[in-house]
Amino acid sequence: MRSLYLPVLLLPFLSGCSGEPAGASGANILAAPLGLADLQLLKAEGNDLTAAKAELGKVLFFDTRMSQSGKMSCASCHHADKAFTDGQAFSTKDNGKKNSRNSPTMYNVGYYPDLYWDGRTHGLEENVPAAWKGQLGADPAAVAKTLNGIAGYKPMFQTAFGAEASEQNIVQALSSFLRALRSGNSKFDQNQLSEQAKAGKDLFMGKAGCVVCHTPPLFTDRLFHNVGIGMDAAEPDLGRFVKTKSDADKGRFKTPTLREIAKTAPYFHDGSAQTLKDAVKVMAGGGKDNANKDPLLMDKKLSDAELDQLVAFLESLSGDVPFTAPQMPQ
Ligand code: HEC
Ligand code: HEC
Repeated sequence: MRSLYLPVLLLPFLSGCSGEPAGASGANILAAPLGLADLQLLKAEGNDLTAAKAELGKVLFFDTRMSQSGKMSCASCHHADKAFTDGQAFSTKDNGKKNSRNSPTMYNVGYYPDLYWDGRTHGLEENVPAAWKGQLGADPAAVAKTLNGIAGYKPMFQTAFGAEASEQNIVQALSSFLRALRSGNSKFDQNQLSEQAKAGKDLFMGKAGCVVCHTPPLFTDRLFHNVGIGMDAAEPDLGRFVKTKSDADKGRFKTPTLREIAKTAPYFHDGSAQTLKDAVKVMAGGGKDNANKDPLLMDKKLSDAELDQLVAFLESLSGDVPFTAPQMPQ
C-alpha cells in the first residue's frame, strides 16, 4: 500500500489533465524529473505532499523574516544557481558563528532517510526545525506570529493548511518544498553523453569503482563511508561517530549525491577540494589514508586523461531543471 500511494497521487498531475494549477515557476512542482520516476520519495506521517504546501515552502525558504536578525534566509546558504549550495567552504550562521561543514545541495533530499553529513537527523521534518533554529537562530513561535501579521501570507497558509501559520505547518511547508525539489533530466538521463563523457561513464561504472558508493539513480548509496577527508587534522571531525558513538563510524560521512556536482564547488564535507577535478583525483587515488579508511577505496592509477573523462561524465549529471525564485508576500 505504502509503495503504491505516491504514484497514484501523482498520476493525474503527470497526465496533465487534472486542472491542477502549475506552480508559480510554470512547471509542475510535484512531477518527478526524467531519471527519478521509479524512485519513492520518503514520506512523513501527517504531511502528505501537495503543490500548495510545496509552493508555500518555496517562498518561506527565501524569506529573511524567517531568521532572528531578519537578514538571512535558508537561501542565504543554499543558492538556487549553485544547486542550493553557497560556493564557500564554511558559511556564517545568523548569529555570526561559522559552520564547520560545507553546505550540501538541496536537490533530491526527499530521498534520504538520514540528513546532514553525519546523518544526525532522520527525515526532513526533523532536519528542517534543526536548520531553522541552528542556522537562522529562529524562535519559531515568534516567526509564526510575524508571518501571521503579513497579509500576503494569509491566503497561502489557508490554501495549504486551512489554518494560520504555526511552527509545525511552517516546518511542513519547508519540508514539502524540499521534498518536491528534484534534479534529473540530465544529459545522462537523456542518454545524450558526449564521447568523452561516455568514456568517463565506463570508468565510473567499471575500472574506477565509483559506482559501488555513488549508485544511480541518485549517485549515492545513502550510506556512510570513511574516505579519509580531514582525518589528518589536529582534531578531526569524526562525522557519523558524533551521532552513533560507535568506533567503526569514526570519520564516516554520508556519501554525497553526484547529481548537480559541477555546480557545487568547493567539495567534500570540509570544502577542501576547490575544483571537481581535484575532488575526482582524491577519490580515484583511493581517498586519504587513516586507520578507518573504507576498504572499497584504493588507488585506481588513472591517467590524467582518464580523470578528465570522469569529470566530463560528472558534468553530464547536471539536470535541466528550471527554477524561478519566488516573490516575497507583503
Ligand atoms: C548559514 C548557512 C545555512 C543556512 C542559513 C541554512 N543552512 Fe542548511 N545547511 C548548511 C550546512 C553547513 C549544512 C551541513 C551541516 C552538517 O551536515 O552538519 C546544511 C544542511 C542542510 C540540510 C541537509 C542536507 C543533506 O543532504 O543532508 C538540509 C535539508 C538543509 N540544510 C535545509 C535548510 C533549511 C530548510 C534552511 C532554512 C530553515 C537552511 N538549511 C538554512 C548551511 C545552512
Ligand atoms: C567507499 C565509497 C566511495 C567510493 C568508492 C567513491 N566515493 Fe566519492 N565520496 C564518498 C564519500 C563518503 C564522500 C564524502 C567524503 C567527505 O566529504 O568526507 C565522497 C565524495 C565525493 C565527491 C565530492 C562530493 C561533494 O559534494 O563534495 C566527489 C566528486 C566524489 N566523491 C567522486 C567520486 C569518484 C569519481 C569516485 C570513483 C573514482 C568515487 N567518488 C568513489 C564515497 C565514495
